[in-house]
Amino acid sequence: MRVTEQLAELREIRRSLPGTFGFVPTMGALHAGHASLVERARADCDAVGVSIFVNPAQFGPGEDLGAYPRSRERDLALLESLGADLVWTPAAASLYPPGYQTWVTVEEITRPLEGTCRPGHFRGVATVVAKLFLAFTPDRAYFGQKDAQQAAVIRRMVRDLGFPLEVVVCPTVREPDGLALSSRNAYLDAEERRAATVLFRALCAARALYDGGERGGEALRGAMRAEIHSEPLAKEEYVSVADPGTLSELDRVEDGALLSLAVRIGRTRLIDNLALEGNGR
Ligand code: PAF
Repeated sequence: MRVTEQLAELREIRRSLPGTFGFVPTMGALHAGHASLVERARADCDAVGVSIFVNPAQFGPGEDLGAYPRSRERDLALLESLGADLVWTPAAASLYPPGYQTWVTVEEITRPLEGTCRPGHFRGVATVVAKLFLAFTPDRAYFGQKDAQQAAVIRRMVRDLGFPLEVVVCPTVREPDGLALSSRNAYLDAEERRAATVLFRALCAARALYDGGERGGEALRGAMRAEIHSEPLAKEEYVSVADPGTLSELDRVEDGALLSLAVRIGRTRLIDNLALEGNGR
């Protein structure tokens, strides 16, 4: 596995890797969710590249950029064991040099949900992912369903800008009690970790109503809210039952609709989602 900080060296190594190339962008602090993306890329492609870069442009003022967990040596050891070929760990100043002023802005689909709570977040994500695509020139790029809106934004950007690559979205990896894996779970103390299962419980409550025949969007949102409000350490940021393509809120719910939510557990902000599937009703 080759590891470099330098763009010129990354390009040189990339050129030397024949066949199809799979790319997994990360901010480090890797967990089994990231590992599942690298494993999928490894299975699909001849060579695999990973970036580790905590992207300052996607953090708002007052967010956790400074505190974001960093574990470079552990991450590199994991990537080596997973069979990655190439890892880029650029410095912030090389991606955003002094005078930097070029941004990628995806419009409608970035406005609801995370866009409402984290203005500017997706501008930072789309810009860095576009820069990473230009650096790695992958055939396929792998993202987690856990960040469903991010995946939708990247798909839109790839279509709109004509990046010659396929976006592959892989299933959310969960703890046995349902908590979706996230680097931010490391912020939770024992009591908060217990409370954090409320996200998955809320999604399951709405899914159970849907499976029982309920088709009203507001009823499903209400079921998620009730579950969140029953947990004293949890504070709702949003609950949503949306069209998976546009992310606009639904009055009447159909198969494929996306349930999603953002909840604060103490000072930690967590998100999760589930797609509704048909049960023949
Ligand atoms: O999902 C993430 O970890 C980040 O948003 C990404 C895609 C690596 C861009 O910084």
